Amino acid sequence: KKTIYFSGIQPTGIPHLGNYFGVIDPWIELQKLKEESIGMILSIVDQHAISLGPLKAEDLRSNTRQMACSLIACGVDPQKTLLFRQSDVPEIAQLSWILGSLQTTSKLARLPQYKEKSEKFKKGDIPVGLLTYPLLQAADVLMFRATHVPVGEDQSQHMNLMGGLAYAFSKTYNTDFLPIPKQVTRKTNARIKSLRDPTKKMSKSSGGDKSRIELTDSREAIFEKCQKAQSDNLGKITYDPENRIAVANLLDLLSAISQKSIEEIPFENWTTLDLKQHLAQEIDQKLEPIRRNLRELENGSKIDVILKENEEKARNLAQENMKEIRKIVGFL
Ligand code: TYM
Repeated sequence: KKTIYFSGIQPTGIPHLGNYFGVIDPWIELQKLKEESIGMILSIVDQHAISLGPLKAEDLRSNTRQMACSLIACGVDPQKTLLFRQSDVPEIAQLSWILGSLQTTSKLARLPQYKEKSEKFKKGDIPVGLLTYPLLQAADVLMFRATHVPVGEDQSQHMNLMGGLAYAFSKTYNTDFLPIPKQVTRKTNARIKSLRDPTKKMSKSSGGDKSRIELTDSREAIFEKCQKAQSDNLGKITYDPENRIAVANLLDLLSAISQKSIEEIPFENWTTLDLKQHLAQEIDQKLEPIRRNLRELENGSKIDVILKENEEKARNLAQENMKEIRKIVGFL
């Protein structure tokens, strides 16, 4: 079977360093190794973005465009990656409905991300989309018969559920049309943590502005956020992820950004202030060219042309597969 990499990212506007190390950087590495026979599809999942309730149309539109520009600015290559908007391919929502027939509400309600996010609503006020979110995610991947899904560690439960759905589909309809997709997650930096609370992941939706660094943060903002990042008063820097979790978090981030192992970082004589300044310096240096690319893309029309062209390409692929799925299920 053909190797197809698929991943999705919510249109949260500008990605943060968690998104960058969880999926964007690994994606660009894979792109370098891409051969003619391998497919690479990356979706901006704008339908997932309304799973907690509606957004202002204007905001959803501009966040989607910003995310598309950011991905290209980071190095996603439209010649190698089919970058498209989820809502441009309505077949995905149809497949999600079909997958719903193979899933129970109790299993969906047991997922940790559902539990955590639904707690913020009053009983009885939880949006349906929050519960069915993983069905749509599974449909994204299965729609394109993808074999590999590069994601950060936080997506593991969604990936397990997806595997279960692909398996249930195959058993129910006695078919091997949909492969069971494999999660691809790096061993290192698969979970970037909040700068304010190293027990939590860096996230757009919680923790506050100072807890995350976004790819367009200015040099000043980067230095300020690193300065205010959680650390400790134990003096000289040591790497001790169990007892000095906040300092270890900053070292992990420095290791990720500078592409050095912890052993290669000369922190022996550093104070926490030195560590924070080295970290800020490395982040700023890494993000400088991305910021520049992004400004250019946002002001131009290149991205609009790419998304328009790819709407048709993605839709053609989905329609072809959907025809077969409709036959298998009994709709045709
Ligand atoms: P999303 O939009 O929250 O995040 C996009 C990608 O970034 C990774 N990520 C992180 N990695 C490491 N550390 C972090 N702190 C961090 N925060 C985010 C995520 O693991 C993800 O790879 N449900 C998905 C979107 C989705 C999807 C899909 C993914 C929809 N359909 C199909 C893959 C395949 C999500 O909310 O990701």
